[in-house]
Amino acid sequence: MSAVVVVGLGYVGLPLAMRVVAAGHHVTGYDTDAGRVKRLEAGESYIEDVAAGEVAAALETGRFLPSASATIWTSSSTRASRSRPTSISRAAITRRWCM
Ligand SMILES: NC(=O)c1ccc[n+]([C@@H]2O[C@H](COP(=O)([O-])OP(=O)(O)OC[C@H]3O[C@@H](n4cnc5c(N)ncnc54)[C@H](O)[C@@H]3O)[C@@H](O)[C@H]2O)c1
Repeated sequence: MSAVVVVGLGYVGLPLAMRVVAAGHHVTGYDTDAGRVKRLEAGESYIEDVAAGEVAAALETGRFLPSASATIWTSSSTRASRSRPTSISRAAITRRWCM
């Protein structure tokens, strides 16, 4: 299991985030649109390809964290000792492409 950051939760990012959560990974979904993040936190979807139930199910796993903040939790990281907030780094973003 690994920790993945998906940057941008739109037509590409949100379905991607759902698939990665379903595959068993921890996903921080980072989006600068706070309104979108609030809707996701409430279990809602604004993308027709993603059902609201899918977002709610992802939240229930405890492995999906929508965030409008560049400070993310890394407690779900494969490195358990890093259970503190950290800024999204180039390395974290790179992990998106290396899963
Ligand atoms: N949708 C497609 O079919 C498609 C195909 C090829 C390439 N792309 C490219 O993929 C990217 C995403 O496309 P999309 O259709 O998902 O767009 P989208 O507009 O549906 O979603 C983009 C999301 O990213 C967020 N965002 C914008 N700037 C951000 C930032 N600096 N940090 C974090 N979040 C930010 C926006 O708030 C929005 O929620 C674009 O660069 C697009 O050109 C999309």
